[in-house]
Amino acid sequence: MSKSHRTWGGRFSEETDAFVARLNASVSYDKRMYAEDIDGSKAHASMLAKQGIISGEDLQEIHRGLEQIRREIESDEFQWRTELEDVHMNIESRLIELIGDAGARLHTARSRNDQVATDLRLWLLRHIERLKGSIDALQGALLQVARQDGDAILPGYTHLQRAQPILFAHHLLAYFEMFERDLGRFEDCAKRCNESPLGSAALAGTPFDLDRTMTAELLGFRQPMKNSLDGVADRDFAVEFTAAASLMMIHLSRLSEELVLWSSQEFAFVEIGDAFATGSSIMPQKKNPDIPELVRGKSGRVLGSFVSLLTTLKSLPLAYNKDMQEDKEALFDAADTVLDCVDATARLLPAIKVNSNAMRAACDAGFVTATDVADYLAQKSVPFRQAHHIVGGLVGWCIETNRTLTSLSLDEFRRFSDIFEADILDAVTVEASVAARTSPGGTAPSRVQSALDEAARRLASRTQSDPSPG
Ligand code: ARG
Repeated sequence: MSKSHRTWGGRFSEETDAFVARLNASVSYDKRMYAEDIDGSKAHASMLAKQGIISGEDLQEIHRGLEQIRREIESDEFQWRTELEDVHMNIESRLIELIGDAGARLHTARSRNDQVATDLRLWLLRHIERLKGSIDALQGALLQVARQDGDAILPGYTHLQRAQPILFAHHLLAYFEMFERDLGRFEDCAKRCNESPLGSAALAGTPFDLDRTMTAELLGFRQPMKNSLDGVADRDFAVEFTAAASLMMIHLSRLSEELVLWSSQEFAFVEIGDAFATGSSIMPQKKNPDIPELVRGKSGRVLGSFVSLLTTLKSLPLAYNKDMQEDKEALFDAADTVLDCVDATARLLPAIKVNSNAMRAACDAGFVTATDVADYLAQKSVPFRQAHHIVGGLVGWCIETNRTLTSLSLDEFRRFSDIFEADILDAVTVEASVAARTSPGGTAPSRVQSALDEAARRLASRTQSDPSPG
């Protein structure tokens, strides 16, 4: 291309090498910020006109030209050009092509440095809004399954060894709480992201008399950023987002891992809906839990984006450096991936078939009420450590003789301690064990029912009055 096509071409006498142009370009991935770029430019132009820096006619032309460009992009007619580097220069060049000098005045008192920081913040704020809606849906799906199948009793595990029986709803509500905190982290990130760098110009501000509060308000930002260097140099909002996204992916990976385990023949606690699984090309009996496996696997790439972004920023001198162009792919990929995984999990959960019989059988075979037997003795004033020892012997005997705790007679219990009375036969059941765990936050059905109601209320109050970020 001729050097005059490049908006910064004045100083340069040699053509950009084609290879360098390709490496330098970000348009292939930053064009997805076209709407934010156009909104940012319109706000900037409105402010320039109000301050008397450009004329009202120029402003009208700029707005008209930018809206035409928006239509061209949305109808796929826009010619994106790699040699124009990025979304900003592609749109600006087209604007100048369409409206001439008025278009060439748009970049007054602005730099691509504050432009890109503005676009990226706006893009992320809009993305967080969508993500919040998806997290609400995911939590809604957890509550739906908890209401349908929540009274199933399964072994709770520690060390992946059967530990104590719990309600399935209780297990699902644990994830509800994790996702609630994830949501809070995204909202927190949005608060700090919600300030406008526009007007920072290249790094030092500009001699033009800008109204930065006006552009901030037009774009929906809470306020302008206070320091022009900080405005163009930091990407901490992107780091915060990918950190929150990584943690949410880790939570999702744990749920996914459990679904993978539970849907195995070894557990058979759930069956994954056909729409979320595949068969094997060679082994006809198989149904593979692809979607939970993928969600589990994708947690790695989101964490990778987080590390990549932090590493890009590490030791970078102020203010803008071209390194920072590397922020976008990491941020976009993390943002797309976490949104996809939240959506996938929200759709997959209501489609699982819960096998409460298998859950129950695992409880019966697993000595999961051994703690209840020890508690029983402790309540009859046997010191807990002694009680623990007695029940350990009892369980060992059961294993040797191939018995379960619920199949023992009173006489058999009494071989291990004469403290046992007839009521042990009730206390040792899985239902009694669950019902006994009435401590706040515990798995007793009454506790779980009020936890479900409270969670539903929390979710409803949010989805009814969706507050804007910040
Ligand atoms: N494409 C660039 C980026 O994403 C825009 C900012 C370029 N600024 C500059 N001074 N070269 O970072």
